[in-house]
Amino acid sequence: KTIFLSDYTPYPWTVESVNLHFSLDPHATRVRSVIRFARNPAYAGDTPDTMFLHGEQVKLISAQIDGTAVDPEVTGEGLTCAVPAGSFTWEAEVEIDPANNTALEGLYMSNGMYCTQCEAEGFRKITFYPDRPDVMSVFTVTIDGPHPVLLSNGNPVKTGEHHAEWHDPWPKPAYLFALVAGDLVAHSDTFTTMNGRQVDLNLYVRPGDEGKCAFGMGALKASMTWDEQVYGREYDLDLFNIVAVDDFNMGAMENKGLNIFNSSAVLASPETSTDMNFERIEAIIAHEYFHNWTGNRITCRDWFQLCLKEGLTVYRDSQFTSDMRSAPVKRISDVIDLRGRQFAEDQGPLAHPVRPESFQEINNFYTATVYEKGAEVIGMLKTLVGEDAYYKAVELYFDRHDGDAATIEDWLKVFEDTTGRDLTQFKRWYSQAGTPRLSVEESFELDTLTLTFTQHTPPSAATPEPQPLVIPIAIGLIYPDGREALETKVLEMTKEVQSFRFTGLEDRPVASVLRGFSAPVVLTHDLSDADRMLLLSADTDPFNRWEAGNMLARTTMLAMIRDGAAPDPAFLNAIKGIALDESLDPAFRALMINWPGPAELANVLHEAGEVPDPEQLFTVGEQIRDAMAETFADAASDLYARHSVSGAYQPDAAQSGKRALSNVMLAFISRRSGTETAQAQFDSADNMTQQISALSQILRHGEDSTALDAFYQQWKDDRLVMDKWFGLQVSCAKPEDGADTARRLTDHPDFNHKNPNRFRAVFGALIGHHAAFHHKSGDAYTLLADWLITLDPLNPQTTARMCSAFQTWKRYDADRQARILAEVERILATPDLSRDTTEMLTRIKGA
Ligand code: ARG
Ligand code: ZN
Repeated sequence: KTIFLSDYTPYPWTVESVNLHFSLDPHATRVRSVIRFARNPAYAGDTPDTMFLHGEQVKLISAQIDGTAVDPEVTGEGLTCAVPAGSFTWEAEVEIDPANNTALEGLYMSNGMYCTQCEAEGFRKITFYPDRPDVMSVFTVTIDGPHPVLLSNGNPVKTGEHHAEWHDPWPKPAYLFALVAGDLVAHSDTFTTMNGRQVDLNLYVRPGDEGKCAFGMGALKASMTWDEQVYGREYDLDLFNIVAVDDFNMGAMENKGLNIFNSSAVLASPETSTDMNFERIEAIIAHEYFHNWTGNRITCRDWFQLCLKEGLTVYRDSQFTSDMRSAPVKRISDVIDLRGRQFAEDQGPLAHPVRPESFQEINNFYTATVYEKGAEVIGMLKTLVGEDAYYKAVELYFDRHDGDAATIEDWLKVFEDTTGRDLTQFKRWYSQAGTPRLSVEESFELDTLTLTFTQHTPPSAATPEPQPLVIPIAIGLIYPDGREALETKVLEMTKEVQSFRFTGLEDRPVASVLRGFSAPVVLTHDLSDADRMLLLSADTDPFNRWEAGNMLARTTMLAMIRDGAAPDPAFLNAIKGIALDESLDPAFRALMINWPGPAELANVLHEAGEVPDPEQLFTVGEQIRDAMAETFADAASDLYARHSVSGAYQPDAAQSGKRALSNVMLAFISRRSGTETAQAQFDSADNMTQQISALSQILRHGEDSTALDAFYQQWKDDRLVMDKWFGLQVSCAKPEDGADTARRLTDHPDFNHKNPNRFRAVFGALIGHHAAFHHKSGDAYTLLADWLITLDPLNPQTTARMCSAFQTWKRYDADRQARILAEVERILATPDLSRDTTEMLTRIKGA
């Protein structure tokens, strides 16, 4: 069944209050609900005389309306019941089975603890309720259970062992409900808000994980301060709780006052977490905290508006990371990620607008397009209206819509009202699928440069007739001698073809176009290698400086792929020069040495109408790494030593940048001279970043498995580190061994497909290993399909998510296409396949 945005109608009732009582039991939890309904004045028609409540996999024990027993009609999706004309009270008791809930949606158990995940539509697995985001209410929750820690949203009314009572004064939709019960320990702290409110902060973890809380707590406090300082947003309860859970489908969830986190997204220690883990944890904690205003205080009218909270919150967390760490490094990493994941999605059969217009299963739309392109759209809006106008508009958004379930129209209206702009055309960014192509032609006469831009969005099933977009094009001009001829200026392109003139120039400059990646487009700009070399050395915009190098790297690799050309030593040496330039941030230098990966090259070849050959892409990648290792032969050891960090480990930008750079050098050294240095680093490492970088070089270039086994012995009791142990073996496998390695690991006693982190450790790594996943034998396709078939009945959400591995199938050769299609069809033919997986594979297969 397909749901359409255009079919939206308000719910006929409002919910004035909700009282829930939980009696916890692994297989027979009882939930009693008392819900006050009143007529919704915003509902246009006559109030119906029957009401529908969502409910799935809940057993109705009894139901009453205003104290009189009723006998509703129950189906697999909910119940329908005759109701009185005015206000009324619904009471029900239901029974659910958390211990058998392997889908990890609703109330479920993880290692003996109870926890919930309700977004998007999980609350209906807890009790009967109008489970839609525009129905908001005040919740009071009591819990009886066998555990010492019993948590729900809001402020505690009564807490004690085995019984607790919670009241959340802020009206919220059911998807923000949460409950946790377990034998947990708290890492506690306090925060004083800008208006002097004292907030108790707790990070709840299982005993044994106490030592992994300090960093997350620090990140939470930094987020709270940042949101006050930058957006003027203050926290609004006496308490903020975070709980870490091992079995979780996503990263984390912003339940009001009770965020629930995948333990991989919150637990951190130097010994067990890499620098990248620390940065990601800091960002996710910020993301979930920022949802308190962008998501919770102002929520979404319906699930089509998901980007209203997700795009904005991703944008806010990226601003936070830029402020806490390095803004250029964050921007470059975000663009690499956007090109890798969102562009692939937007250019294949799963393409959909940032605000989709229809879906079958909303869980399938928590995508890179909704999240990351959604954030890019906010960034473009800010670029267009300017910094001051942006914050003014957002301030109006908070004032005007606090307490609302809002829409994208509401969001754009505050910008129109504060700036006087008409955003009708800009709104197409929300309604059109596909990555726009932007090309630029230059002409220079006397003292005038003319740039003529052409935009074109390829039609897709979701958007057959794309219209021109408003594209903010940030631009600068650089004279051949390296002086800046024009500082960054934002051009506003609205037409299909549009020219911009720059006069009074002393000489023909090189145009630095799309600075900071000011719009999520594929840019075609025919610059000569010499011009790119100039930008690489002299551009004042750090993103475009990196981009110039990235484009040269791309050109180099494409020439190797297309005509077997050798890489230009001048370019390799230019990169080396940057790597050795001690005036530059080591993290930035590490990014500059990083060459486009096979997935990105496959995207580029596909955009150019060519068929990528995974084997060849792998070979060219190896050749480049060999050439780089040669180029750095006389410099790698020195740079490695110079950037080795001495002193106590800090996960900050400064230290992690040094480790990033030195570990690139370690890779060059290991490639040329074997694993002696890597082994020494492995043996002496006192932190996971150093240990695992060394181990990956040993796996790639060494002979024996001593280090791998030692790593296992050292960490076998740490789930999160064991996820790395599983994943790394697949990532480091030779392409022809990838599927076998993954298969062997699924036989390991520590493999558990019911744990999403472990499942993703193996299969995420296999999918991410382009040459292994697309090995011509087709073994990896078959192995993944086998496991998706196994997992689907247990956990449809994670299964459906992993199906996106097949989304690029049409870009490969006929043989690979046939193999993938056969697997897709084999999965689709599985009896009782979930709605989630069915929708994904049907869309991937195409009409
Ligand atoms: N709102 C969460 C976040 O982005 C994601 C939860 C999505 N859950 C799901 N089952 N689709 O912070
Ligand atoms: Zn979010």
